[in-house]
Amino acid sequence: MKTLRLSALDAETPFIAAELIRRGELVAIPTETVYGLGANGLDETAVAKIFEAKGRPQDNPLILHICGSEQMALFCHDIPEIAYTLAETFWPGPLTMVLPARDCVPRRTTGGLSTVAVRCPDNAVTREIIRLAGVPIAAPSANLSGKPSTTTAEHVLHDHDGKIAAVVDGGACRVGVESTIVDLTEDRPRLLRPGGITPEQLTAVLGDLVIDKAVTAQIDKDAVVKAPGMKYRHYAPAEPVTIVSGSREKAAAYIRRHFTPGDRVLCFEEELPLYAGCNPLAYGREADVNTLSAGLFSALRELDDPKIHQVYARCPVGGGVAYAVQNRLKKAAAFHIVDAEAEV
Ligand code: TXA
Ligand code: MG
Repeated sequence: MKTLRLSALDAETPFIAAELIRRGELVAIPTETVYGLGANGLDETAVAKIFEAKGRPQDNPLILHICGSEQMALFCHDIPEIAYTLAETFWPGPLTMVLPARDCVPRRTTGGLSTVAVRCPDNAVTREIIRLAGVPIAAPSANLSGKPSTTTAEHVLHDHDGKIAAVVDGGACRVGVESTIVDLTEDRPRLLRPGGITPEQLTAVLGDLVIDKAVTAQIDKDAVVKAPGMKYRHYAPAEPVTIVSGSREKAAAYIRRHFTPGDRVLCFEEELPLYAGCNPLAYGREADVNTLSAGLFSALRELDDPKIHQVYARCPVGGGVAYAVQNRLKKAAAFHIVDAEAEV
């Protein structure tokens, strides 16, 4: 099939994309976080195409994208008041809420779970597509399963050209890492995945937040987890990645000592001079963590090259959006971290 490339700036685009969604086709959609691979979330056959195109395990549920908090009750039940407060505070935006699912949501969409994840993306064209389609759009990140997420239309075409009906090109994604996921189906709210809405922002509204263990540690693939997606190898380029923590100088000394030809260094722009001759790639500025989140997946995709032996990566420290960047990079590194300060 020929994959249409539709510009988000073109007035016809929402109508064409919505019609394709209604017909059960796959359409990649831009959001503020990453591009999603969208289909009618209420149509099992359409949703099955997403799993097939991505090579995604069947038990890994999808997020339903809706165009406003008034749609939550169409697909969820027993919605706590706090969900509406979160929606008012952070929607449209990079926050996904897990709530009990209504029967109209196919189990194929929820990966067999009785809950469903919902989010209202901060992209006007995508919300218009959802509104015109008249159905919620189920959309995982549009990357092939296990690979770094897609933050441009080019990334989507790289992975899916000729296999999906269309991609809506809305330019590079502003946030660059996927949405924050909070589970509201238990006694206490639980952070399942950090993202553009920070734990600090959530705690300010919720007063309480449990950090799920899948956020900070490697999860066994046979484990029972709240967010099934968190147990799979993720965001990973072809070669092993090692995060080197510690001061700029100590980390550079460690990496330069261990570097062999064929390796790459993924670092902050400020550090480029320290890695002359080590083929460094900067993904943003350490002084502005938003540039790191926006640049991370493009950089990881560039490093997804079987000719590279090994990547040494520098990771920002601290909370806020840096927390989400740490989570993605640690997963890409399968939690392989060395502390340059501890090395003699
Ligand atoms: O920013 C985003 O969230 C992007 C854009 C496209 O909206 N989407 C995205 O989807 O990241 P995906 O499928 O790559 O990641 C969704 C995550 C997975 O880890 C999945 O297991 C989890 O959300 N998830 C979905 N439904 C869930 C549910 N009912 N309970 C727990 N976790 C759920
Ligand atoms: Mg994903």
